[in-house]
Order: sequence, then structure tokens, then C-alpha cells
Amino acid sequence: MDQHRQHDRILILDYGSQYTQLIARRIREERVYCEIHPPTHGLDWIREWNPNGIVLSGGPSSVYGTDGPTADPELLRMGIPILGICYGMQLVAHLEGAEVEQGRREYGRAELTIVEPDELFDGFDPAEPTTVWCSHGDHVDAPPPGYRMLASTPTLPVAAFRAEDREVYGVQFHPEVAHTPRGEEVLSNFLFKICRCTPTWTAGAFIDETVAQIREQVGDRATVCGLSGGVDSSVAATLVYRAIGEQLTCIFVDNGVLRKGEREAVERTFRKHMGMRLIVVDARAEFLRALEGVTDPEAKRVAVGNTFIRVFERVAEEEGTDAGFLVQGTLYPDVIESLAVRGPSATIKTHHNVGGLPEEMHFALVEPLRELFKDEVRQVGRELGLPEEFVGRHPFPGPGLAIRVLGEVTEERLHVLREADAIYLEEIRAAGLYDDIWQAFAVLLPVRSVGVMGDARTYEDVVALRAVTSRDGMTADWYHFPHEVLARISTRIINEVAGVNRVTYDISSKPPATIEWE
Ligand code: XMP
Repeated sequence: MDQHRQHDRILILDYGSQYTQLIARRIREERVYCEIHPPTHGLDWIREWNPNGIVLSGGPSSVYGTDGPTADPELLRMGIPILGICYGMQLVAHLEGAEVEQGRREYGRAELTIVEPDELFDGFDPAEPTTVWCSHGDHVDAPPPGYRMLASTPTLPVAAFRAEDREVYGVQFHPEVAHTPRGEEVLSNFLFKICRCTPTWTAGAFIDETVAQIREQVGDRATVCGLSGGVDSSVAATLVYRAIGEQLTCIFVDNGVLRKGEREAVERTFRKHMGMRLIVVDARAEFLRALEGVTDPEAKRVAVGNTFIRVFERVAEEEGTDAGFLVQGTLYPDVIESLAVRGPSATIKTHHNVGGLPEEMHFALVEPLRELFKDEVRQVGRELGLPEEFVGRHPFPGPGLAIRVLGEVTEERLHVLREADAIYLEEIRAAGLYDDIWQAFAVLLPVRSVGVMGDARTYEDVVALRAVTSRDGMTADWYHFPHEVLARISTRIINEVAGVNRVTYDISSKPPATIEWE
């Protein structure tokens, strides 16, 4: 709870909306620190957390449902500004004695008219309706006693309200989504005009505080860092190196589920650009043994996660480092998606560096990026002076190709995937598209298909190609490749990779799909 105390901070209580993460993103883009927490914390906890303002997120429940998450009515009287969004607004209305109308679903755009000027809508012209985006089943027809209506839409008599004597607000629309074009202004008004926050949350401030905090946490103990060569672990390692210098040893494990040429490339760039001690371990056989016969995606993550820790422990012991700490590049979305911090929402995937750790291990964790989103990590990396070839790299998951060879992971299937994936990325780079794409990779499907090659029937593997655009991996759209690039990639893979006779391109967005197939 102590880190980043000196910044003004917003507490987001998560009632299970798919947009809660977006609220956090938008607030941080305004350079205000915020965290997402479940709505089950008591008032004492909230007082101790000391927010400058609280956002109550949307959510799938109804305030009249038996298991709908709620709030202590006193929350609205703590003297802390509150903004309820969608379900959050209905909850405020319900706690304050208003009726919440049920069952008229409304999705999509609406025209919002400001009916009473207020700081929340500062800069908006009552004579000019503005487009907002709604997604709700319930709504409020009349404000609770002691509240005033601020805005309406043609179908919503009360699209926004506020308490007359306190800074407690509700909006029925979603200011956090891109489809509400002036949503940023509404959030910014809440942050700066109502909560009176100062925008101090910057990459530079983050680096200074985190370096100091790591020094305090680690003391003079030796520390190891599991380096993957990706952005997150490189930035995490650099931060820790800055904090404790030679106490840090980086370990790069070849776990047998890396991409073609990756081990060599990471070793080369790391030795060239970073000053820290690096040990490269070949643990391919050990990982493949742990993955033998495993087909379930979550079980693969656990197998890889556990083996990582065992390898680290062994290497640290062999090196006589007596390391007390292990650095990991865990990000905020990993934490949230894995642990279902959001009380009512579901665990999507246990990303290996959070969910797949063994119950008992010899290390305490140092996770300096635990509060950051991916694009914030890139900003920090640039601020730390890391070369663009690190900072701009596509993300690569910890369990690596193990979750891209669907079904059982074998040496032979890994080989097929590696070759196809290498051609794919080579062609993307050659076409100058690498930086337009957030992440691109090949997947080896667990099916075979019939083909014909040189007059003969073939019955071989199918490779799916995935490429997405995204800001932070939380939502993603499939990348619209020029057709000639796809054609070239497909021809090359089928001609050059033995055992593959068909290539498909994945055109699913996230949600409802995820970026990885497993
Ligand atoms: P999904 O598939 O959940 O992926 O849409 C979002 C981002 O996370 C990466 N990913 C992982 N990273 N361990 C990781 O370190 C994991 O188990 C894992 N699963 C997915 C994925 O590559 C994408 O960038």
C-alpha cells in the first residue's frame, strides 16, 4: 500500500464491468495514479488507502439481484468525491432511496443534453448535445431525494445526476470508452475540477520511486531475474539493476519453447546493451519433460511456471548467489486477469508468472511493473534509455510456444511451428509492418487437413496466423494485412515447412476471442 503514496490517487471499485480496466487506463493517461480493487473492502480500508476520489464501475448485476455486489451507504458520506458509472450510478441511486427501473436494455450511441451546468460537464454547451455510449439493462427515471439531474438523453430522463450538498455523481453512460468522444473531458473534469488531483504520475516519477522502493525491499540480498528477452523482463531487470547494481544476476532460461534463433538473439543484444551479469541456462529437456502428455492450456502454464522456479532455484544455488529475491516482469493486467481481483468477474487465464507459481518457493518476488499497463512499461523503458529493439518488441508469453502448439507439445511439432513462425515474422518485417502490429505469431493447430502436392494426396498440419492491433492487450482487433503479404507468407510456409499443407488467418477480435489460442 505504501508505494506511490505521494501521488494523488483514485480508487476504482470494480463491480465487474468489462470496461473497468479502461477506466483505469483513461485516468492514468491523465497522469493520475489509480488502482482497481474489489468492492468488498470496508470503509476503514478505504480511509487508509486515502483516495482523492472513488469511481464505482459498471457491472452486469442489478441492484435488486440477490447476489449483486453493493456498498456501505456511508461510503457516500465520507467526504470523498464519487463518480458512479452505469451500475455504479444505479447503486448510488438505490442506496440513496431512488427507484431503479429494470429491464429496458439499451446499447449503443445516444445524444446527451446537459440540463444543468456543473463542473462535471465543464466546457460542454447545453445547447449542443454530445454523443455518448450506453450499455445497460437498468436505469434511473428520477434522481434520489437530495440529488439533482444534470443531463438526459432522448430515452434516459436521468443520464447524469449529483448530490446537492456533496460531490457524489452518477452517469448512466460510459465516459471511458472510445465511442464516447468527449468522455475524456468528463473524466478529466472529475479528476481535476472535482477531486482536485494534481497530474504527477509520469514515467520519470515512477522510475525514481520504484528504484527507491526496490532498494528498501531487497536490502543487500542477492537477487536473480528471470529474463525472457521481452520488454517486461528487460525493463524490470533494468530498474532493479539501477537500484541494486551488482547484487543482481539475470538468468535467461532456454526452456525449449522459444522461437527460432531467440536464445542467440537475446544473448547478443543483452550483452551488447546492458551491463548486468547474465547466465544462460539450457533447460530444454527439463521443460519438455514437464510438458509431456500435457494438453490442457492451464496445466501447460502451471508446468512451465513451476519448472521456471525450480530451474531458477537450482541455478541460483549452483552459482552460490544465495538469492533471496526473484524479479519478474508481471504487469497489471496479468495480476487482474489471473487473480480475478475483480470480485464478480471470472479468471480468464492464469498467466504463468502470476498463477503458475509453486505454492512454496525459496524466493520472495520483486515485481516492479505490477501496477503498469504494457504501454506504460514501454514508456518507462524509453525513459530508462533501453534500445528501441527491446522497447518495441512484440510481447511474447512466458509459456512461449507451449501455448501455441495446440495439444501436446513435442519436439517435432515445436520444430514445425518455429519454422512457420520465423517465415511469418520475416515477411512482416520485410513488408515494413512490424511496428504497425501489436503482436503477430503462428499457431500449430491440432488437426490435419487433406491437400494435394505434385499430384499426390497429402494429409498434414495446419498453421493459423494471428496478428492483432491493440493498445494494452486487454482488447484487440485482428490486423488487416495487405492480401499480397498474406499470399507471400502462405506460399512460403507451405513450400518451405515440411509437414504443413494449409495456412489460415485468424480474424477474431478480443473479446470475444483472446489473443493467444490457449
Ligand atoms: P490473451 O491471450 O490473454 O493475451 O488475450 C494477452 C497478452 O498476454 C500474453 N499472454 C501471456 N503472457 N504468460 C505471459 O507472460 C501467459 O501465460 C500468457 N498468456 C497470454 C499474450 O501473448 C498477449 O500478449
